[in-house]
Amino acid sequence: MNRRNFLASAAALAGSSIFTPRGFGLPQMGQEADRPWAQIPAVALPPADIGAAQYPKDFWWGTATAAYQVEGAWNVDGKGESIWDRFSHTRGKVKGAATGDVACDQYHLYKEDIALMKRLNQKSYRFSVSWPRIQATGVGPANQKGLDYYSRLTDALLAAGIRPMCTLYHWDLPQTLEDQGGWPNRDTAAKFADYAGIVTKVLGDRIETWAILNEPWVFTYLGYASGVHAPGKTGGIPTFLKAAHTVNLGQGDAFRAMKAVAPKAKIGSAYSMSPGEPATDSEADKAATARFHAVNNVWFLNTALKGRYPEVFAGSKFEQMIGIQPGDDKRMTAPLDWVGINYYRRSIISAPPAGSKAPFDQHDGFDGPLTEFAWEVWPKGLYDIVTTISNEYDKPIIEITENGCSYGDTPYGPDGGHVPDTRRTEFYRGHLAELARAMRDGANVRGYHAWSLLDNFEWAEGYSQRFGLTYVDYRDQKRTPKDSALWYAKVATSGRLDV
Ligand code: FCB
Repeated sequence: MNRRNFLASAAALAGSSIFTPRGFGLPQMGQEADRPWAQIPAVALPPADIGAAQYPKDFWWGTATAAYQVEGAWNVDGKGESIWDRFSHTRGKVKGAATGDVACDQYHLYKEDIALMKRLNQKSYRFSVSWPRIQATGVGPANQKGLDYYSRLTDALLAAGIRPMCTLYHWDLPQTLEDQGGWPNRDTAAKFADYAGIVTKVLGDRIETWAILNEPWVFTYLGYASGVHAPGKTGGIPTFLKAAHTVNLGQGDAFRAMKAVAPKAKIGSAYSMSPGEPATDSEADKAATARFHAVNNVWFLNTALKGRYPEVFAGSKFEQMIGIQPGDDKRMTAPLDWVGINYYRRSIISAPPAGSKAPFDQHDGFDGPLTEFAWEVWPKGLYDIVTTISNEYDKPIIEITENGCSYGDTPYGPDGGHVPDTRRTEFYRGHLAELARAMRDGANVRGYHAWSLLDNFEWAEGYSQRFGLTYVDYRDQKRTPKDSALWYAKVATSGRLDV
C-alpha cells in the first residue's frame, strides 16, 4: 500500500470493504522517442480559459520543498535523528531502500539552488526547518549551527529578491520525542511550541510568512494509523485521532509562541485538501461527502479558526475518541493570517456499505489522465476546493502551498541539456487556469507554489517519483531545469498562461 490509496485505506481501517489497490502508472525509463505517451498532453482546457488568466503583478510565484526531502546532511553540525532518518534506515520501509541521507544535498548546495530560482524568476520559496537540526532531541537549548544554516539560507533568498516562506513542521519529528510517545502524547504540543518560538525569534526579523504545519492529516494518518509513513505506527483510527488532537493543540500553542516573539509574523498552515464529489445524487452519498470534507480537509483548519471540530461528527463515537479536555477549545484556536492549500487530486465519495463502520468510502477519480504516481490529473478540483474554503471561511487569504505532478521524463538530446516534459507544463497550465478562475470568482489567492523546485526524496516511494520542475541527477547532483521550469519562468514574469 502507498500514498495512492491511503484514503481508501482510511476507510478500510475503519472497517469498510472498499480498499482497492491499483496497479502503478506508466513505466519510467527510456527516452522520449521510445515513449510516445510522454507527448500526450496531461489535460486539455479550452484556449479561452487559458487566455482569460491574468495574474496580478504582485502575485507570489514560487516553488516548494521540505527539509528531509532535499537537504541531505542528515547527521552533520549537531543535527539529531528524526523519525524519517529512523524509518528510512529501517529495511523494507522505503522503496529501493532509499534514504534522505544525501537527497539533493541542498544543505550544501543552497546557493546554487537559489541561483536557479532567480533564473526562473521566482518570487517566493517555501522551505521547511528540520526540528532535530534545531533541537537534536526535541527539547532544550537551540543548536546554533542548525539555526545558522537557516539564517544563511534566508539571507541568500532575500539577497536574490525571493521571499522566504518557512514551514516549521514538514514531518521530521525528533526521534527522541517519538520514543516518548510522539504525536499521540499530549506533551509533544508544548514542546513543538517551544521549538516554533525558538526559530521564529531568530528568523522573525527577516521572515514574515510562516506555515506552522505541513499536511497534518497526512502525517498523523499515515504515520500513526496506517503506518505507511514514519514513524510507521499502525494504531488505526483511535491513534490517529489522538495524534491529530495533539497536533491541533500544538498548532494553537505554536501560533501564540510565534506571535509573542514576532508580532508582525503572518502565520498559517499548509493543509492537504481534496475536493470530494458525491458518487451519486443520493442523500446518503452527499452526507458521506460532508463527513469526508470534515475529516480530510478541515479537521485542522476548523479547529484553528473556530476552536472546535467540524460539527458533522458532534456526539459520535469519533468525537469521544479524541479525548478533548476542558480548555482545549481555547488552546486549539489560532486566528490564522492565511490558509495554505496543497492540492493534488479530487476524491469520489459514497456512503459506506451496510454494516461498515467507516464514515465514508473514498476513491480517486478516473476521468482524467494519470500521472506516473497514478494520481488523476483534475485541474477543476483546484477551483472547487479553493472556492469551497473561500466560501466556508469568509474569504481568507489563501496561498497554494503545493500543487504538482510526477512524471519520469529524463534529459534528452546529445548534450543531455533538455528535458521535454510536456505533460508537466500542461498540468500546470490547466491548474493555473482553474486557479485564476477561482480568483475571478472572488477567492483571495495571493500565491502559488509548484511542488517542487527539484526532483527529490518522495517519502515511502524513495526516488522513484520525480515531481521536480528541475531534473536532479542523483549521481552527481547536477540540476537541469525541465522545459516546464522554463515555461513557469515566463508565467512568473508575465502573469499569463498563454506563453
Ligand atoms: C505532499 C507532501 C510533499 C510531497 C508531495 C508530492 O503530500 O506535502 O512533501 O511529497 O505530496
